[in-house]
Amino acid sequence: MRRFLAQHAPARPWLVRLAVAATVVLVTGAMYMTISGYPSLRLVSYIPPTHTLTLGHPAFEDIREYERKLPQHKPPTFLTKTKPRYLFFPWEAWGTGWNNVFQEQLLNTHLSFLANRGYVFVDYIARDHPPFPDTLPNGTRHMLHIPMNAFTSGPTGGGSWGPGVDPSISRPISQRWWEVACPKERIVEVQLKDTMQELNITDSTTGGERLMLWAEKLRRMPEECVSVIGGTPFDYVFINTAKVVSLWDSYGHSPTLAQFAWSALITRAISRNFPLLSSSPPPPTLTPAPSRIFHPTDLPSTPLPLTLFHPLPISAPPLPGLLALHVRRGDYATHCPNLATWGSDYNTWNKFSQADIRKTNLYPALPDDLSVPPGMSRHDAALRHCWPEVGEIVARVREVRRDAEKEGVKELKTLYIATNAERGWLDGLVASLKEGEEGWERVATSRDMELAPDELAVSQAVDMGVLVSAEVFIGNGFSSVTSNVVQLRLAGGKHANTSRFW
Ligand SMILES: *[C@@H]1O[C@H](CO)[C@@H](O)[C@H](O)[C@H]1NC(C)=O
Ligand SMILES: *[C@@H]1O[C@H](CO)[C@@H](O)[C@H](O)[C@H]1NC(C)=O
Ligand SMILES: *[C@@H]1O[C@H](CO)[C@@H](O)[C@H](O)[C@H]1NC(C)=O
Repeated sequence: MRRFLAQHAPARPWLVRLAVAATVVLVTGAMYMTISGYPSLRLVSYIPPTHTLTLGHPAFEDIREYERKLPQHKPPTFLTKTKPRYLFFPWEAWGTGWNNVFQEQLLNTHLSFLANRGYVFVDYIARDHPPFPDTLPNGTRHMLHIPMNAFTSGPTGGGSWGPGVDPSISRPISQRWWEVACPKERIVEVQLKDTMQELNITDSTTGGERLMLWAEKLRRMPEECVSVIGGTPFDYVFINTAKVVSLWDSYGHSPTLAQFAWSALITRAISRNFPLLSSSPPPPTLTPAPSRIFHPTDLPSTPLPLTLFHPLPISAPPLPGLLALHVRRGDYATHCPNLATWGSDYNTWNKFSQADIRKTNLYPALPDDLSVPPGMSRHDAALRHCWPEVGEIVARVREVRRDAEKEGVKELKTLYIATNAERGWLDGLVASLKEGEEGWERVATSRDMELAPDELAVSQAVDMGVLVSAEVFIGNGFSSVTSNVVQLRLAGGKHANTSRFW
């Protein structure tokens, strides 16, 4: 070889190096394929179905391209030390309200992490509360499919597990990559009911034990592609029992939550609407990069490319002076009386406020439980917590503002109201909040947000991005929107006393 080089190559050594490199790549590739059984894998670009175009729905092509290019979406090379290991939950909830679905997806991300596996994330299919009309001319529905990275680019959307985590733990992958990397013959199915029995999980097993038993079982399995079928260990029913709180020990400090970041799409929407929230320029986390090409007070009002935005981490400092409210109306007109009649408790993570759970001193102590004033029935009290009228909202806002200032939160100046209320009623509420002694510098609502169609598809999560960023928050204890805001505020380091209920 040396002699060959000496005789023929000196004039063009790079050509030889190139040839050698190409040979190495080809040989490695071929060896890899024979060793691992992987075909040559790659994801092709997403092509939106024609119905999406017919209906004029956003196709999220930029986000799909971002997902396609995630570094974990390529086959391991001959040099990869640890084989990727994945965990798919095809029975995860998919078409109910997004916040119910998302609660489960976050927990499954954490279970996958503990099992030393990459969670498989799917599109959200907007069956309930579709954001746009979705009926084709012949009367069939074509439901909007929203990619995970329209909501979050933290670990649940394939983002990094963060610093200090064993780099051999596979990052979560998209369902599209799972379908390539895990063909049917490589998938091992784990049946929910049988496994619950095998692990001796009964009604007396705590949530924390359930998590550890499942994690241990899935971690020990040598197979790379594991699918949990017949249900999921943290389904809707489980999530709504008080058992859920004991997951917090492990989950509350997990990479799933610590690394949680809103998507670039949500970050862009909040950035463009920032003047509704403050008279100051947006903080660096909400400023398009490279920031030097924009003067912060002179940002363009049309949507910029998503690549200019970094996903907004929940650990970012709060937006100073902002008090954000979640005022749920619409379907709650019938849901609140039902909840009151059923004697329902607060939703999932909002249960941290419950007296019996606070008493354990094991969890963040949310200050406002489902209190029943003297002389009032639980039914009527629950209804008031669920469906506060204008006067009650104004009084509560005043009270919470006073408490917060007592506890050292500097002046609260701006109110943001995340709501699905009708415009007429909302105008009345805003007028009452602006009146006289209240002295709010500005009051904005969901209806004031200017959103592009792709942002509108995730408008509820855009609102949640603001609610999580606020210095102080007042929400509806019965709502899963509020519950998800609360868990993200706590995980992002905001004091429990800054998350309040009506
Ligand atoms: C309606 O049209 C769509 C798209 O062409 C098709 O997939 C669907 O089966 C049709 N439904 C009916 C009821 O014909
Ligand atoms: C479940 O209970 C059986 C019988 O008591 C026992 O043999 C088995 O080891 C238990 N399994 C686990 C995972 O604890
Ligand atoms: C949080 O609120 C409780 C009252 O609910 C109060 O006793 C406590 O001092 C507050 N903690 C802080 C750090 O302000």
